[in-house]
Amino acid sequence: MQTPHSQPNILVTGGAGYIGSHAAIRLLDDGHAVTVIDNLSRGNRGAIAQLARVGGARFCFVECALDDTAKLCEVMRASATEIVMHFAALAYVGESMERPLEYFTNNVVGGISLLNAMCASDVRKIVFSSTCATYGEPASENIPIQESLLQLPINPYGRSKLQFEEILRAECARANDANPLAAIALRYFNVAGADRALRVGEDHRPESHLIPLALEVAANTRESVMIFGTDYPTHDGTCVRDYVHVEDLVDAHIKAISALQGGEFHAWNVGTGRGHSVREVIESCRRITGHRIPERIGTRRAGDPAQLFADARAITRDLHWHAQHTELDSIVSSAWNWMQANPCGYQ
Ligand SMILES: NC(=O)c1ccc[n+]([C@@H]2O[C@H](COP(=O)([O-])OP(=O)(O)OC[C@H]3O[C@@H](n4cnc5c(N)ncnc54)[C@H](O)[C@@H]3O)[C@@H](O)[C@H]2O)c1
Repeated sequence: MQTPHSQPNILVTGGAGYIGSHAAIRLLDDGHAVTVIDNLSRGNRGAIAQLARVGGARFCFVECALDDTAKLCEVMRASATEIVMHFAALAYVGESMERPLEYFTNNVVGGISLLNAMCASDVRKIVFSSTCATYGEPASENIPIQESLLQLPINPYGRSKLQFEEILRAECARANDANPLAAIALRYFNVAGADRALRVGEDHRPESHLIPLALEVAANTRESVMIFGTDYPTHDGTCVRDYVHVEDLVDAHIKAISALQGGEFHAWNVGTGRGHSVREVIESCRRITGHRIPERIGTRRAGDPAQLFADARAITRDLHWHAQHTELDSIVSSAWNWMQANPCGYQ
């Protein structure tokens, strides 16, 4: 790939997926040359087609799995990669309880293969998609969650993400390294919404996230939305989560690039610092879509903490990051706009 640009060349893993495709499109908008690798196990070819349209000669897609170290080396050398944004992962909590080995293999062994390829290709900067699932079930006095809270994940997905954070931390601290690794882990809370120009959006199959699930009911592709538990110790009895717009999340990655320092590992929460209950989210979906969105009440799911929301002061203080979409309705309406423009997603 030709790279006559002053912006660093970026390798995006998992760029056919929801968040990776939004990051890739923002990087292309900002003038970077972007190479996406993805094995398409969960991603969408439609997202790749959109990135190719936007990026032209500055965009390249290689179908490649994380465990193919040799191919990753080839890709990094051919694209003169300077920074890796690592989104590729298996990311369903429930599935991780059923298939733990697959999760550790994909998310930890795959990550190690990526790091080996980076080392061999002299690429020393990485921004990693971590998650609030690494915190497990914090006690109510630890909400909002600060980065310093002891991470005690309660499922294989969260553990796999924490293990890769630990590998990054150790690599950054490697003794006697003339060209040390620089790594940042961003611990996302609940990500939602879509590109404002509707070029890419959220199309998970199967879908497990509340906002798209509720919007699918409004779009008449699902009959009702399930509420898992109405007896939590929260103001309306349903679970409270922190919803961050995908464009704001990507903006945190852009800011993280300039904070990458050789030999240093940093982790920041990315959330708005405000919690919204499941009922509030469904109400917002009703307001935005004008649809009544029938709900069903189910029992609590194992491992669903009553409240999870971020203390996001550290990323604001250190990276000057602020969420632009501070209102839930703004996030929901962005997701709804994409769904209306793409009623069958990328299909
Ligand atoms: N969506 C959220 O709310 C959320 C919250 C916290 C953290 N995260 C993290 O953000 C990242 C992106 O999440 P997403 O919602 O975009 O997921 P996604 O499933 O839409 O995208 C992940 C992409 O990675 C690819 N992939 C998976 N394993 C791979 C492998 N071994 N080799 C190559 N490609 C592989 C998939 O094909 C897919 O395109 C993940 O690491 C996830 O853990 C997401």
